Amino acid sequence: MLKVSHICKTFTGGIIRKTRVDAVKDVSFTISNGETFGIVGNSGCGKSTIANMLLSLIKPDSGTIEIDGTIQIIFQHPETSLDPAKKIGYSLEEPMIIHKMYDKAGRKKRVKELLDLVDLGEELLDRYPHQISGGEAQRIMIARALSLDPKILILDEPTSMLDVSVQAQVMTLLKELQEKLGLSYLFISHDLDVVRWFCDEIAVMEEGKFVETGRTEDVIGHPKAEFTKKLVESFILE
Ligand SMILES: Nc1ncnc2c1ncn2[C@@H]1O[C@H](COP(=O)(O)OP(=O)(O)OP(=O)(O)O)[C@@H](O)[C@H]1O
Ligand SMILES: [Mg+2]
Repeated sequence: MLKVSHICKTFTGGIIRKTRVDAVKDVSFTISNGETFGIVGNSGCGKSTIANMLLSLIKPDSGTIEIDGTIQIIFQHPETSLDPAKKIGYSLEEPMIIHKMYDKAGRKKRVKELLDLVDLGEELLDRYPHQISGGEAQRIMIARALSLDPKILILDEPTSMLDVSVQAQVMTLLKELQEKLGLSYLFISHDLDVVRWFCDEIAVMEEGKFVETGRTEDVIGHPKAEFTKKLVESFILE
């Protein structure tokens, strides 16, 4: 379970001309075990700032975050998340080495289980990141995140850099993994079609605020906020 209550984050900067961005304004939501919560909104509205606060990469100015279990993230760019100088096998093992999990034989066994979970073969282990496809790289990143037995995964536009056909495969894999492992997801996306299929609940975000939250079908089917209406309309017209 994840519970976020009234978190706020303002970025300030500039020496001569002071700048101030209210990136996240009084955001609250909960994600129950095994559920998927989506955040939809335009570029710059504050989605990744929320993700960074959940991961403790930045500290909220106010508000509280309660997380039950480990949380991990899958980023948009799998190719930049993998170390180009390290073989895939090492990248999969590395989180377990850092967290001192298992002995060497145990880690090798776990790597094989993880590959199996994401439907990849052992032949990838001896390759470097430039020797695998974008879809395979994203599966590797998912396997790597799963190595620490998380309860919650943040998916920050996880498939937007992939071909449409590969996107569908990765999204289907994520659904299967959720069922198998009982994971909760925080899914960040621009794509209302994917959100509709993937999320139990969504929040529509505009300039740092949640303007509308609810069951996905209700929000998309009967939008209340002006911003949501425009978003749904523009999506139908596309
Ligand atoms: N470290 C930072 N310092 C200053 N401003 C920041 C910082 N991180 C984010 N911002 C600003 O906060 C706002 C929200 O950024 P954020 O990355 O959360 O947007 P986003 O919704 O994830 O956008 P995108 O869809 O493009 O990924 C933006 O105006 C951004 O410029
Ligand atoms: Mg972002």
